[in-house]
Amino acid sequence: MKRSIIITGGAGFIGSHVVRLFVNKYPEYKIINLDKLTYAGNLANLKDIEDKPNYRFVKMDICDFEGVLKLMQEEHVDGIIHLAAESHVDRSIKDPFTFAQTNVMGTLSLLQAAKACWEPLGYPEPCRFYHISTDEVYGALEMTHPEGIEPPFTTKASSGKHHLAYGESFFTEDLKYQPHSPYSAAKASSDHFVRAFHDTFGMPTVVTNCSNNYGPYQFPEKLIPLFINNIRHRKPLPVYGRGENVRDWLYVEDHARAIDLIFHEGKIAETYNIGGFNEWKNIDIIKVLINTVDRLLGRPEGADLDLITYVTDRAGHDLRYAIDSSKLQKELGWEPSLQFEEGIEKTVRWYLDNQDWMDNVTSGDYQKYYEDMYRGR
Ligand code: NAD
Ligand code: DAU
Repeated sequence: MKRSIIITGGAGFIGSHVVRLFVNKYPEYKIINLDKLTYAGNLANLKDIEDKPNYRFVKMDICDFEGVLKLMQEEHVDGIIHLAAESHVDRSIKDPFTFAQTNVMGTLSLLQAAKACWEPLGYPEPCRFYHISTDEVYGALEMTHPEGIEPPFTTKASSGKHHLAYGESFFTEDLKYQPHSPYSAAKASSDHFVRAFHDTFGMPTVVTNCSNNYGPYQFPEKLIPLFINNIRHRKPLPVYGRGENVRDWLYVEDHARAIDLIFHEGKIAETYNIGGFNEWKNIDIIKVLINTVDRLLGRPEGADLDLITYVTDRAGHDLRYAIDSSKLQKELGWEPSLQFEEGIEKTVRWYLDNQDWMDNVTSGDYQKYYEDMYRGR
């Protein structure tokens, strides 16, 4: 095999799309999916590629330094694409310890293992430690009004495409970190460790910070799959606060394409922001979801609008995220391929067509999680 690459968190939402892309696109690479299979990890996400000769699954905790080191030595690993993490903000509010353990200590354990393998060799090409992070490390943006214009207003991406924006400022790579949730604080800390390993030991690292992803195989604790499933079953839709918060949505396969490009062509020690140029208020997305599910299920469009239920806001709820990904567009030529309308239609269809997948992941402990999370809100 030409290369041997560990992808951590490959059984999760984004990781499974990255593993699938790499296994299919690079038959000359050995792709090792290292995943602990927490509640969020699901091998059913990878059924279509599990028998490919260039794929290996290893059930392991990233915090297991000895285990990771042995695996790296055994497989002569020359690249790590690190996605494994605790990823849900609401869970981090209830249980911050697990987030510090996995996201900070787990990342450090991987860095130490990579250092132990690569440092004696002088970090030869094409060794890379690629850390996948989030836009939430930058904190929250305001909703500002350019002279007299009510948001949303139109701005122009560097590609020339127009998009709706809810403010005049965007997350750029040089912004200082201001994380607010235990989740984003832990991710921020892990980003700092990755950069420290470059600056102190010369490890060839790259970091990307991406906006909200949507698409198939996302665990239904996150807004889009949770609400699609609830609309289908006519269950209440718990909208936090007034539903005014803004997120910048990117189709998950576009994120996976960006990861492929940056892993191969990104500059060492650089940070790249990845985003959709696609800002939406939660309440507007929720209405699109209701209309789309209703239409696809043959219900009168909008029949389920009365499921919208305003509940107590998330503590420390960030108001607005909006990524400026023009650096990635200018330097490496990446931009989102799918319009949101097309992506959301594909996504809703996928969840409606894959009820078995949904039933499978919502069996077991999930009902208890759901009741605990929303009880008394
Ligand atoms: P996810 O929760 O769907 O999947 C996480 C995966 O990591 C699961 O397969 C889980 O089993 C695995 N995992 C968790 N702890 C582990 C451990 N200790 N050892 C080994 N494996 C472990 O997450 P996701 O939404 O796919 O996010 C993946 C990465 O992308 C995360 O680092 C997240 O911070 C980042 N990110 C996510 C988004 C998003 O919108 N989902 C956006 C930007 C960045
Ligand atoms: O911005 C990138 C981040 O996006 C990633 O780093 C995280 O891993 C990922 O989970 C996501 O974080 P969010 O908190 O933005 O995603 P979530 O789907 O949990 O929520 C999206 C918005 O919807 C947010 O404003 C909270 C709101 N919401 C969410 C849920 C689950 C509700 O109103 N009701 C809900 O039940």
